[in-house]
Amino acid sequence: MDKITGKKILFTGGCGFIGSNFVRKIYDGNEITIIDNLSGGKEEFLSDLIRAGKIKLVKKDLRKADAFHGLGEFDMAIHLAADSDVRQGAVDHKFSLDTNVIGTFNLLEFMKEKGTKEMIFASTSAVTGDTEILPTPETFGPCLPISSYGASKLACEGFISSYSHYHGIKASIFRFANVVGRNSTHGVIFDFINKLKKNSKELEILGDGTQSKSYIHVDDCVNAMIHIFNETKKTDIVNLGNSEVTSVRKIAETVIEQMGLKGIPMKFTGGPEGRGWKGDIKHAFLSIDKMTSMGWKNRYSSDEAVKKAVQESLQQIMN
Ligand SMILES: NC(=O)c1ccc[n+]([C@@H]2O[C@H](COP(=O)([O-])OP(=O)(O)OC[C@H]3O[C@@H](n4cnc5c(N)ncnc54)[C@H](O)[C@@H]3O)[C@@H](O)[C@H]2O)c1
Repeated sequence: MDKITGKKILFTGGCGFIGSNFVRKIYDGNEITIIDNLSGGKEEFLSDLIRAGKIKLVKKDLRKADAFHGLGEFDMAIHLAADSDVRQGAVDHKFSLDTNVIGTFNLLEFMKEKGTKEMIFASTSAVTGDTEILPTPETFGPCLPISSYGASKLACEGFISSYSHYHGIKASIFRFANVVGRNSTHGVIFDFINKLKKNSKELEILGDGTQSKSYIHVDDCVNAMIHIFNETKKTDIVNLGNSEVTSVRKIAETVIEQMGLKGIPMKFTGGPEGRGWKGDIKHAFLSIDKMTSMGWKNRYSSDEAVKKAVQESLQQIMN
């Protein structure tokens, strides 16, 4: 059954893009407390549920160990809070360390103290670094991240695994491909729409446009997490992605078409080795064999996910 129910859940980053979609999916039948400092997320994504008392929002910063004081006990933690600004990590390497690694450590200490035994964690394809093994399975190694974001998430995976062993926590660690859909506040689709909203005469594209990545719609991503968490008996890592990739150029064409703009020139920055920025993995394609073998099948392909997400983002950004 693809449901999480009857649990007291501590949800970090619940006001973010993926978090807000996840919370909306499971609030009914669970008792959810969100911790979010609103650095990237928006209270308005969930304001109806907060106002109605269906969920509780605690505005605190995970980088501080006392963020959890007085929150009580929980059956489960869903840990999505992170510095998800991969580009910024190239400039300020410490930001990812503080929010992602220290924040995760603080949460794990709290879970240890309170005896919380279940966890979902959002990791990323960026942990592997550049690889010629595509699609990349969970067993790929050595993982040599090329961004401080990827490095921080790899460290989180390690800490979660060790706390699982010491304290009997069952953790489902999910390595996401690129997640797209409603409530997105960053990423390639969001960028393109906002650039074209400001200037519909040309579209600047970071890199050479041939970067290819696998995209998954946020509805599939959330449903897959629930399904696989229920199927999992012990701590494990599972990739969530799609069986094809979509190029950056194709995303640009989809955005231009959906915005009803024709013949817009695309200006490619070229980028370091054709990447969007230093630290960007040019071809990211996770194997989904394990996800599939655990009984999960996405509703939307990579191209379909992109198209649906463009429509959803246009509705939110242009209105
Ligand atoms: N969006 C993707 O394509 C993608 C891909 C791979 C992994 N992930 C991971 O999934 C998770 C969710 O990503 P998202 O795209 O929804 O990002 P997001 O930025 O929309 O959400 C992150 C949330 O964490 C909160 N947060 C950040 N720092 C915090 C802090 N110090 N204390 C408390 N709250 C804090 C933000 O306010 C935000 O609401 C992240 O862990 C991210 O690394 C996302």
